[in-house]
Amino acid sequence: MTRACWMAPKTWLTAMALGWLAPVGVVAAPQPANLDEAKVPTYELPDPLVDSAGRRVADAAGWRARRAELLELATREMYGRSPLGRPEGMHFVVTAEDPRALGGRATRREVTVQFGRAADAPRMRLLVYLPNHVAGPRPAFVGLNFTGNHATTDDPAVAVAEDTVYPETARARPRGKTLELKARGSESERWQVARVIDRGYATATAWYYDLCPDRVEGMEQNVATLAAAGSTEGRAPDAWGAVAVWAWGLSRALDYLETEPRVDARRVLVHGHSRLGKAAVWAAATDERFAGLIANNSGCGGAALSKRFLGETVGLINHRFPHWFSRSFRRYDDREADLPFDQHQVLALVAPRPLYVASAAEDLWADPKGEYLALAAAGPVYALLGQPSLGAAPMPPVGQPIATTAMGYHVRTGRHDITAYDWDRFLDFADGALAR
Ligand code: GCU
Repeated sequence: MTRACWMAPKTWLTAMALGWLAPVGVVAAPQPANLDEAKVPTYELPDPLVDSAGRRVADAAGWRARRAELLELATREMYGRSPLGRPEGMHFVVTAEDPRALGGRATRREVTVQFGRAADAPRMRLLVYLPNHVAGPRPAFVGLNFTGNHATTDDPAVAVAEDTVYPETARARPRGKTLELKARGSESERWQVARVIDRGYATATAWYYDLCPDRVEGMEQNVATLAAAGSTEGRAPDAWGAVAVWAWGLSRALDYLETEPRVDARRVLVHGHSRLGKAAVWAAATDERFAGLIANNSGCGGAALSKRFLGETVGLINHRFPHWFSRSFRRYDDREADLPFDQHQVLALVAPRPLYVASAAEDLWADPKGEYLALAAAGPVYALLGQPSLGAAPMPPVGQPIATTAMGYHVRTGRHDITAYDWDRFLDFADGALAR
C-alpha cells in the first residue's frame, strides 16, 4: 500500500483495475461515481429514533440510550475506536504572543500542545486569535487547516513551521523562502480571521498533519505513536482511522481553549471543510463539550448520505484513502444498502447542539442534496429534544440559506471551497445559536 501513494494517476487507475491496491477481502475496483440524480437508487434511511430492538424513543432519557447505541455503531463500523483520551502529561507551551496583532484588533497566541511530558512527545501547534474590542470570555471557532497555520492568515508574524511547506511535494520541489512566502496566507480566504474577530469571536486552528500525516503511513506516525493501534492495513478492524485521529486532535485543541480565560469554552463551535469537515463531524459527535458543528462541503463520510450513492461513494473513498476510516468500513464498499446506519444518524449525535451544514452547488462529488437530506433527517431528534428543527422544509435553492437557532443550511454557487459568503452565514448562525 505504501508505494501506492507515489504512483502517477494513470498508474493508480491501472493498479485499481488490476486489483493491486485492493485491501484483502473487498472488491478490486469500486464502481465509478454516479453524478446523475435520476440514477440515485431507492434506499431506506434507518430511523434515528427507533432503536435496534425496534422500540421508538419517546423522550430525552430514551435518546441518551439510543445515542450510545448509534455512537457505538458508527465507531465500530466506520470511524474506528480511539485508543487515546487526554494524554498523561499533556501540557501547553506558549511560543509566541502579540497583544496587538491584526492592526491591534486581536491578540495572537501560538501554542504548542505537547501530547506528553517529554519535550519530544508528539505535538500540535495551535494558532489562536482573541478579539480585543470585546471583553469577557468569547465564543470561539476551532478547526483544522490543510496547509499550515501560516497559510490561514496574511499576518506576517505567524511562525512558518518548516515541515508545513508543501509536505507531499517537498522532495520534488526546492524548499525555501519563495515557497514559504507563497504558502503564507494562501488559505486566508478560507479562514477569514479578521471577519471572525470583528464579529467578536475567537478562532483557533492547527495543521492536520501535526496529528496524522494524510497518507497511508500516517497511521503509524505522530499521535499514532502514542497508541500503537497498528498500521493502516495491520489495524484491528475497528481501530481508528485518520479522520478519528484528527477529531481527537480537535478535542485536544478544546482542552487548551478550556484553559484560556478569554474564551468561553462552553461556546466553542467545531468546524471544518471537506476531509477536515469529516473530522469536525466526528469530533462533534464524540465530544459533547463542543457547543456545535459547522460542516462545510464535508461529503462522503461527513454530512452526505452514503445510501444515495451519488458523488463519492464508500468504495471510492476507502480505495483512495484507505487510512481515513476503520478497516471494518470497507465491508460496505459498493454495498451502501447494507450499512446499518447513515450519516443523518451521525449528525443526530450532535443534537441538541447547534448544527450547520453547508454545500456548494458545483460540488457534486460531496452530494449537496445528500448533505441537506442528512441534516433534515436528523431533525426529528432535535424536535424530540425541544429544539427547532428544519421540519419538512425542502432543500432551499442556491443562495437562500435557511436556519433556526439549532439547525441551518445553505448551498452557495460555485465549487468545493469555503468563501467569505460561507463565513457570513456561519457567523449569523453562531450569533443566533450561541446567544445567551
Ligand atoms: C477528495 C475526497 C473527499 C474530500 C476532499 C477534500 O475529493 O474524495 O472526500 O472531502 O478530497 O478533502 O478536499
